[in-house]
Amino acid sequence: MNTQQPSDAAAHPDAAAQLHHRLGALDPDNYTAEKCAHYADQIAEIRELKRERRAVVLAHNYQRPEIFEVADFIGDSFELARNSREVRDAEVIVFCGVHFMAETAKVFNPERKVLLPDMRAGCSLAESVTAEALADRRDELLPLYPDLKIVSYVNCTADVKALSDACCTSANAARVVNAIDSDHILFVPDQNLANYVQTQTAKQIISWDGNCYVHHQITPEEVLKVKAGMPGVIVIAHPECRKDVLAIADEVLSTSAMMRYAKESPADKFLIVTECGLSDRLLLEVPNKHFYKACKLCRYMKMITLEGTLDSLRHLRYAIELPDDVRAGAKRALERMLELGA
Ligand code: 13P
Ligand code: SF4
Repeated sequence: MNTQQPSDAAAHPDAAAQLHHRLGALDPDNYTAEKCAHYADQIAEIRELKRERRAVVLAHNYQRPEIFEVADFIGDSFELARNSREVRDAEVIVFCGVHFMAETAKVFNPERKVLLPDMRAGCSLAESVTAEALADRRDELLPLYPDLKIVSYVNCTADVKALSDACCTSANAARVVNAIDSDHILFVPDQNLANYVQTQTAKQIISWDGNCYVHHQITPEEVLKVKAGMPGVIVIAHPECRKDVLAIADEVLSTSAMMRYAKESPADKFLIVTECGLSDRLLLEVPNKHFYKACKLCRYMKMITLEGTLDSLRHLRYAIELPDDVRAGAKRALERMLELGA
């Protein structure tokens, strides 16, 4: 089957119509009937291949809505890490997210094939710190702070994790920092998250100068502009945002905590300040409430497509590999996170 072009006649007309109904409501110009028919065929083929290959698909909250259709689990970085550790009865994990997340799945599943559909799916935060630079900074700081511990946000490479005393995610960063036995924490690589954690702890946080290019470009002016026309709207921001954006947010939450908050809150109007995929997930799963966007797209997350996921399963590509010592070191830091920050 040619998967490059939408097919003329849908092989799965009922599924195509349902998909068009669901996704067309998000963006009618993008999710046309023809495109949804093509996606319905690809989704059916992916589901079939998942059975044949004994594969599971894990997807981050920022993925494209059509990817959610084939996911066995959708979540934030913390849930995905925990979930990948609990995979049973599968030989293959297809990770619809970015490279550092797929690495974490590999850390917990050395015997399974862990596939990332597009190796270009990186992360500006993960790129901002190397193991060498981190080791140099640690050696510089240790004489000044002999009790120094390294906490790395999971948005970093496995060899950076391997140098860390513990990892954390946006869902548990303050909990991990407060639980670790040191008063001086070198926190890498997100400066914005480090600033936010500093507001939640008496410990001294020494930050790195990385940032998420997606969240860092959101300004308070644009949030206030959208908010101005909506009295009573609840502003929910991700802690990767700048501190002047967090200062005007009603809630600062990880992506899955945003999902839970929006579902459980008595309010019905929310302004979502993070990557746009999360707003799509909210619109799909909480149709009785209103979600407004002050969001940006992550070009890395959006490199994962349905087509790429299908090809990944067809050709069992692209496999994540990690040297044993790096895997063991990263596992130790991730396990420490699960112990301290669960
Ligand atoms: P969470 O899903 O953990 O909130 O993180 C967001 C993010 O930027 C992942 O790359
Ligand atoms: Fe990295 Fe930011 Fe994209 Fe998340 S949203 S993958 S932190 S660049």
